[in-house]
Amino acid sequence: MLEINNVSMAYANGKINAVDGLSFSLKAGEIFGFLGANGAGKTTTIKMVTGILPVKSGSITVCGHDITKDPIAAKRAFGFVPDSPIIFDKYTGREYIDFMADVYGVSKQDRERVTSDLLKRFSLADAFDKRISGYSHGMKQKIAIIGALIHSPSLWILDEPMMGLDPPSAFALKELMREHRDAGKTVFFSTHVLDVAEKICDRVAIINKGKLVLCGDMDEIKRAQGDESLEEIFMSVAGGSDE
Ligand SMILES: Nc1ncnc2c1ncn2[C@@H]1O[C@H](COP(=O)(O)OP(=O)(O)O)[C@@H](O)[C@H]1O
Ligand SMILES: [Mg+2]
Repeated sequence: MLEINNVSMAYANGKINAVDGLSFSLKAGEIFGFLGANGAGKTTTIKMVTGILPVKSGSITVCGHDITKDPIAAKRAFGFVPDSPIIFDKYTGREYIDFMADVYGVSKQDRERVTSDLLKRFSLADAFDKRISGYSHGMKQKIAIIGALIHSPSLWILDEPMMGLDPPSAFALKELMREHRDAGKTVFFSTHVLDVAEKICDRVAIINKGKLVLCGDMDEIKRAQGDESLEEIFMSVAGGSDE
């Protein structure tokens, strides 16, 4: 589904090893949490997975397509919600969704079906024909989520998706993640909010300074660590943040 093989990435002419020999893979039909303190290298990894940053060392395969060698096929397979939604401010919500649907070649019928369901869940229907420039951060986040799901991707990638969402929207998002998984699809999301991860993840990877420190089945990890909470396990393996 998603394979990350020995990937590294350095910034500042090699002075900052943001991602350092990272390897793990995701199976179909799971919610996979990508955990780490601020500055651990989550966003950098996700940018390589989604083709925003080049993979200069190691390789990444999305649904069997190498992101470097076959970027279009790889990109068709996932929907991506970045940490800070970069959206065309001059568009209305509807224009943005139509744009995304056109890019992915989604039929009128399918875009109508996905959009009406998600607008209702996120209470965004009233704002759909208004300009995105007037949206709150949470509303931008929600329209970005709808845009990422418009082509019903096999893999859904989200970078810190709970940030800026009010409780009802965060609840709706978690429900959507579970439904996506239950339909045999895969969710890969990063977070530093451990309570959320503990509740919804089937498997997790914890990174520290760009290196994998723990990866596995949520329940097995907890059992192996003497039924400690994810927070306690995290504190014992993940180190502090770089802030
Ligand atoms: N564009 C950049 N230039 C230089 N350093 C960066 C850049 N982006 C991220 N970093 C550094 O790389 C490390 C990993 O950052 P990031 O991937 O954003 O972590 P996370 O998403 O886990 O908070 C941090 O030390 C961060 O300061
Ligand atoms: Mg980040």
